Order: sequence, then C-alpha cells, then structure tokens
Amino acid sequence: MPERAWTEVDEYVSGLLAPHDEALAAALRESEAAGLPAIQVSPPQGKLLYLLARSIGARAILEFGTLGGYSTIWLARALPEGGRLVTLEANPGNAEVAAANIERAGLAGVVDLRVGPALDLLPGLDAEGAGPFDLTFIDADKASTPEYFTWALDHSHPGSLIVSDNVVRFGELANPASDDPTIPAQRRLHEMLAADPRVEATTIQTVGIKGHDGFNVALVIG
Ligand code: SAH
Ligand code: DHB
Ligand code: MG
Repeated sequence: MPERAWTEVDEYVSGLLAPHDEALAAALRESEAAGLPAIQVSPPQGKLLYLLARSIGARAILEFGTLGGYSTIWLARALPEGGRLVTLEANPGNAEVAAANIERAGLAGVVDLRVGPALDLLPGLDAEGAGPFDLTFIDADKASTPEYFTWALDHSHPGSLIVSDNVVRFGELANPASDDPTIPAQRRLHEMLAADPRVEATTIQTVGIKGHDGFNVALVIG
C-alpha cells in the first residue's frame, strides 16, 4: 500500500502539472467500468513520458502493453504532425477498451494498435520494415522485458530512448533471492545494460499512488 504522503504528493503534482482533460479522465473511467486493473502509469509518470518524447522530438514511438490506452494517449500527444505510435497488447478485451479510449482522444489516426502477444507481433513489424523507433516504452509482461529491450535496441538509432516500467518492484530488484518471478528478468535487463556499449542507462526509484517501484531509462548511443 502506498503511504498517505506519497499519494498526496502525486495528487498535488497531478492537479497542477498533469491534470486530466476529458479524454484522459474518460480513458480511466471506461477502463475501470470495463474491469481493467488500475495499473496504468500515474499522471506524473504519463506526463514524464510525454516530456521525454517531446524533448527528443520523437516521431516514431513503440509501446509494449497498452492496457486501456492511458500511457498511449500521453505518448501519442507528444507526436508532431505525421508522427506514429505502434502499441502492442495481448489481451483482446483490453485492446477493445483501449481502441475506444484512443478514438475518443482523437488519436485513432496516429495510433496503430496491434493485438496479440508482443513476441508474436514483432516479426510482422519487422516484415513491414517498421522502425527505427525514437522512443520505446516497455510495460507489458515483465518477464519478457529483456527480450523486448533487445528487439527495441535493434530497432533504434543513436539518440533513441528506451524506457522500461516496473523494474524495482517494492525494492525486490536488489534481492537476488526474490520470490517475485519478474525479478530475475529485471536483474537480467540491468546486467545487459551494464554490459552493452550501445546504451547508457539508469534506473530511478519512484514512490507514489502505485507504491514503491521504478523505471529504467536507456539512451542509445551507438
Ligand atoms: N502501459 C499501460 C499499462 C500496461 S499494463 C499504461 O500505463 O497505461 C500491462 C499490459 O500488458 C496489460 O494490458 C497486459 O494485457 C499486457 N500484456 C501482458 N502480456 C503481454 C504480451 N505478451 N504482449 C503484449 N501485451 C501483454
Ligand atoms: C503491474 C503492471 C504494471 O505495468 C504496473 O505499472 C504495475 C503493476 C502488474 O502487472 O501488477
Ligand atoms: Mg507499468
């Protein structure tokens, strides 16, 4: 459970700096009504994704794990005219909710939502010559984060960013004997990042309405 102060600070910051307009509010409302789990990024995190995409002038974005499209909307709003976002979602029910939320946000012409397990969809993207992507947001099944990262890196260019969510997991990242089945994958991601001269990266711990977690940001340099 998040501590009261963490939630209050997230609410304070969101109210001033990441307020919901009708499309974001509706995306959460409809996601909840459809019974989707409330595991989307927090409003300040959504704003950070938007700012990162804006700051690098991202024109091509890839997302692993759409859920109801909340992070998708934040990211897609950072795109300039002619920009595109591809988002991959395994659960057809989630994808249906997301498609309606994206449409309501006026982003149906910008967002390419594909339904299926991401690892099954990637060969199709390859065949279409998709990428390179300027920014990739990895937020699907956590055990596959290293595989998604490897694919994203192979479809990046120097200057691309790859952001991976949920890498800290209540501090379990630092516990090699963790019971959390996703932790070996998060530790493998960190070992890959440390060893790969094509990237420079860091992980930032977060507290907030989703408790204690964190995200990794990797900059492709070569
Ligand atoms: N990025 C969203 C939250 C994603 S939650 C947001 O912040 O708004 C994780 C999502 O990944 C869920 O919708 C889940 O169905 C999806 N998922 C799980 N396994 C997957 C896989 N193998 N391929 C693609 N998506 C997957
Ligand atoms: C879970 C998934 C997420 O993407 C997240 O940010 C938090 C929790 C989960 O599957 O529990
Ligand atoms: Mg997440």
